[in-house]
Amino acid sequence: MSSALSGKKIILSITGSIAAYKAASLCRLFIKAGAEVKVVMTKAACDFISPLTLSTLSQHPVQTSVSSEEGWNNHVELGLWADAMVLAPLTATSLGKLANGIADNMVAAVYLSARCPVFFAPAMDVDMWHHPSTQGNVQQLQSYGNHLIPVGHGELASGLVGAGRMAEPEAIVDHLADFFAAQQSLAGKHVIITAGPTYEPIDPVRFIGNRSSGKMGMALAEEASSRGAKVTLILGPSALSTTDTRVDIQRVGTAQEMFEAAKAAYGSADVAILAAAVADYRPATVAEHKIKKNADTYAIELVKTPDIAAELGKLKTKDQINIGFALETQDGPTNAEAKLEKKNFDFIVLNSLQDPGAGFQHDTNKITILHAKSTPSKGNKIKKFELKSKVAVAKDIVDELEAVLTGKE
Ligand code: C5P
Repeated sequence: MSSALSGKKIILSITGSIAAYKAASLCRLFIKAGAEVKVVMTKAACDFISPLTLSTLSQHPVQTSVSSEEGWNNHVELGLWADAMVLAPLTATSLGKLANGIADNMVAAVYLSARCPVFFAPAMDVDMWHHPSTQGNVQQLQSYGNHLIPVGHGELASGLVGAGRMAEPEAIVDHLADFFAAQQSLAGKHVIITAGPTYEPIDPVRFIGNRSSGKMGMALAEEASSRGAKVTLILGPSALSTTDTRVDIQRVGTAQEMFEAAKAAYGSADVAILAAAVADYRPATVAEHKIKKNADTYAIELVKTPDIAAELGKLKTKDQINIGFALETQDGPTNAEAKLEKKNFDFIVLNSLQDPGAGFQHDTNKITILHAKSTPSKGNKIKKFELKSKVAVAKDIVDELEAVLTGKE
């Protein structure tokens, strides 16, 4: 698993609002996204949710006061440790304290010591939210460079309906993921990826398919997303999913559906990675009802499916990069070279079914990258890689993509 939050160190600061119960799922979502979380809470927050819940989820002790029986809790160290501080929920009282530098609890002390970006998700009743003092404090915090995660509108604990609900945990995680993604090497790039097999129906229950798992394409999607790219993953029938909420997965069934989704996304794409094992042929007609086994032999007429890679190759502009895959059982480099030219790829990733551990369904892959002669400074370049996990292979491929992008800029 990989996301823009992977490896990030986050301080989650909880203050005394009924929305504090949502901090438990927020903590879990951060950890699921690959972050490390340390929790600090005000005394008032402990009335709404137990520190034990948060220490269990975060697997770190929770600090609720500047000093304890063991001694002084080092807020400075914590403030320097973090890549981000998230105040969620932030009450009107705590907001007022932070806006005015009143450090009479651990949350405020850590806040004043933090050098990392700070995000705050207020939570309060509608009239408290609209009060000029609250709005003034929000502006004050923003003027220090802190990031407001806007409140939601809806039912409030008081029974009133209006603005003031804490943003949902998923929205808070997305907010931070977008923030970190914007600072990364593929920020601002739109990468579309086709992955998995396609299923071409014969009748309502049968299809022509292949053994592709989609693992390589999924690893590429997560890697590109973790480097800040906007990723559209066009995925054929596959059981895979991702916890990276920034990856937009469009699920398709047939080659024709994959082609239509890829063509629609390609207009805004900077990069297309064609990792799908697309069926080359489909039945000319699909039987309306399940075919009975009356005849001793049964012939199915097949017609060609669209070649997605070749079609996108025709549409490719000088600013776009297309990357293909070749899975070969014989004459790998020669066949890959031919596909590279024919489909107008910038480079092609060759994996051979003759290499143990490479190809469909394995968690490992062994690749060779062949560059197009036209790619600046890359002409004829062939790079061989060792057998690695598909996650590590995805890093190698995205490194190669970054090098080509740099060459074009
Ligand atoms: O099937 P073939 O070996 O020609 O595949 C080479 C490349 O072309 C792969 O990147 C594959 O995803 C792509 N392709 C495609 N549409 C097809 C067939 C292949 O996008 N119908």
